[in-house]
Amino acid sequence: MAKILVLYYSSYGHVEQMAYAAAQGAQAAGAQVDIKRVPELVPSEIAERSGYHLDQQAPIAKPEELSKYDAILFGAPTRFGMMAAQMKNFLDQCGGLWANGELIGKAAGVFTSSATQHGGQESTLLNFHTVLLHFGFVVVGLPYSFTGQMALDQVTGCSPYGASTIAGGDGKRQPSELELAGARFQGEHLAKIAKKLSQP
Ligand SMILES: Cc1cc2nc3c(=O)[nH]c(=O)nc-3n(C[C@H](O)[C@H](O)[C@H](O)COP(=O)(O)O)c2cc1C
Repeated sequence: MAKILVLYYSSYGHVEQMAYAAAQGAQAAGAQVDIKRVPELVPSEIAERSGYHLDQQAPIAKPEELSKYDAILFGAPTRFGMMAAQMKNFLDQCGGLWANGELIGKAAGVFTSSATQHGGQESTLLNFHTVLLHFGFVVVGLPYSFTGQMALDQVTGCSPYGASTIAGGDGKRQPSELELAGARFQGEHLAKIAKKLSQP
């Protein structure tokens, strides 16, 4: 059974919802799944004033925990076309894992959320992949066998680079059924690949 970590950061709950959907997908593939988040870095008075969801239940991960998983699915909101600094700061603390090559050959993928449809989802996913490759991860996206990403009858996230949702400028839009299905598909796909990679 593959051990999968879904590791996310979310200010307003969109990436959090996608994380739980991705975990469901990985569990459906028979994986043992933990959902964790990275620490908040924004001062609490600013986070409260900005309406951040500060009651998230997932435990906070420690960098050294990453090496005990077969695969990791990372979720982070788009900030200026790249991953939120909270996630990057966490990854910047994983230099020891990088130096020891502890993540080499493990599978990993990324999902995201952005306010607008063309606000940088794909750049966030692709430049996150750069970081994964530095660690030696085998990058796993969202293949076109998830046909939902070709939908034209509705506004939707998701691309071959990973699952995604669109939060809207005011953050009121919630992940659609199709976007959650994309996250589930990516979780299941990653778990299947992790299982294959861990076979002797
Ligand atoms: C500092 C900052 C930068 C952002 N940059 C972008 C951006 O480049 N493109 C975009 O579409 N949305 C941008 N957003 C909106 C976030 O992507 C949006 O709040 C997020 O997807 C919501 O996910 P969450 O509920 O998991 O926090 C930005 C938000 C903040 C606070």
